[in-house]
Amino acid sequence: MDWAILGCGYVGGRLARALLKEGHRVRVCARNVARLDPLKQAGAEVHAIDAHKLRAFGPALFGLRSPVVVYSIPPVPGMPPGEAIRRATEASLGVGAARFIYLSSTAVYGETEDGATVDEESSISIGDAQAGPRIAEESAVDGARLAGLNTIILRLSAIYGPGRGVRERLKKGDYQLVDGGMHFFSRVHVDDLVGILRAAVDRAPAGALYCVADDRPSTQKEYADWLTARLGTKPPKEVASLEAGKPRRAVRNRKVSNARLKRELAYTFRHPSFVEGEAAIEAEQGAAVPAPVPAPAPAPPEPRPLPDQRLLPRIREIEKSWTEVILHELRQLIVHLDADRFAEGSRLLERLAQLAGLLARQLESFEISPEPMRLEAIAAEVWTSYERARGRHPQPALLSLARALSEFDAAMQRWRAPQPGYFPSLKVEG
Ligand SMILES: NC(=O)c1ccc[n+]([C@@H]2O[C@H](COP(=O)([O-])OP(=O)(O)OC[C@H]3O[C@@H](n4cnc5c(N)ncnc54)[C@H](OP(=O)(O)O)[C@@H]3O)[C@@H](O)[C@H]2O)c1
Repeated sequence: MDWAILGCGYVGGRLARALLKEGHRVRVCARNVARLDPLKQAGAEVHAIDAHKLRAFGPALFGLRSPVVVYSIPPVPGMPPGEAIRRATEASLGVGAARFIYLSSTAVYGETEDGATVDEESSISIGDAQAGPRIAEESAVDGARLAGLNTIILRLSAIYGPGRGVRERLKKGDYQLVDGGMHFFSRVHVDDLVGILRAAVDRAPAGALYCVADDRPSTQKEYADWLTARLGTKPPKEVASLEAGKPRRAVRNRKVSNARLKRELAYTFRHPSFVEGEAAIEAEQGAAVPAPVPAPAPAPPEPRPLPDQRLLPRIREIEKSWTEVILHELRQLIVHLDADRFAEGSRLLERLAQLAGLLARQLESFEISPEPMRLEAIAAEVWTSYERARGRHPQPALLSLARALSEFDAAMQRWRAPQPGYFPSLKVEG
């Protein structure tokens, strides 16, 4: 299939690489084409465009057969709002584009009620300075849909991934917590965004609109604290949204629902929360560290270790990252238990049981690992919280949580085998 990415930056680059690997024809376009050189090396066609120019898009799409066009250029300053994308849709109609995907933003919601959840039906904020240009662009896409273009609009929450997001800013030391960081925000890992975009091309009805975010919004502080502890960086600077003599810092306190995209596209997130997403970034960045150049082999050469033994250090590294994830989640479980949030606690445990099961399966052919031992102290704390909850509530209220706890323990036992479980006195009745 032919693809054109108009405004190929962070997301476009990641999408282009995935498509090229599958053998698609991919044309990538931006003003600064030198930055697209690595994609050219990977097989992409590179085309210079400047959205300001009247006839930018026709030549950019020329020669492509029924392409999927991804419009990823941010609102263009100095042009009437919506004008650049209107021209891109016209050029797309001109080449008989199979689909036109616009990467919009949840900025369209402007100021929302504190902590509100927004979805595709929520009202957009026409008067808001940041929302206005995006709303104009979405209207232009809607106009093109009426003219027969097969469109999709994705309203994106904050994108993070390797080399992009809060992690990088904490490392640089320029991340700031606004008003104590107690406001919620949603995010999506770039690879999930690419997956959702591909699923939408295959399955979304013409004119579809989706809000794009993972399953777990968090406060700015929760995310920053978690990352700071993990990276060992200095805590971010705290600033106020209102400072004398300065324009107000925009703070959006909202959660973005992904229910429609999950329902209509049957999409399963690879990284349902930042916990899995950040662990994947570490795994990817760890894997990207060049291996030290091996010293010349002495004669006679040692027999090479079996392939599974060569894999072991990598697997152990990944196991270590997952142990951190489990540690973090068990701390969260204690918070849920102490607040009597048993349904949340059960869901969290179900995910942890899956994860521990995965680790157990992956590691069963290797010797016993020391990693699960690192969870003993927190497991004891979980048990204390659980017992306290049992003191406050009758057994039926805790039934599904107890089942989930027991399944998690069973999975942990398989991982730790052959030692006894963490919660040997747990009894599930009913
Ligand atoms: N990152 C987020 O958290 C987030 C959240 C919501 C929505 N979005 C939107 O999603 C889209 C993709 O995000 P991204 O992170 O991949 O953005 P990005 O890395 O900034 O990529 C956008 C690309 O558009 C090109 N571009 C900008 N102005 C242009 C112009 N006048 N003519 C032609 N090309 C132009 C830029 O390349 P040149 O400068 O070389 O032209 C850049 O590579 C963007 O529209 C972004 O605003 C992003």
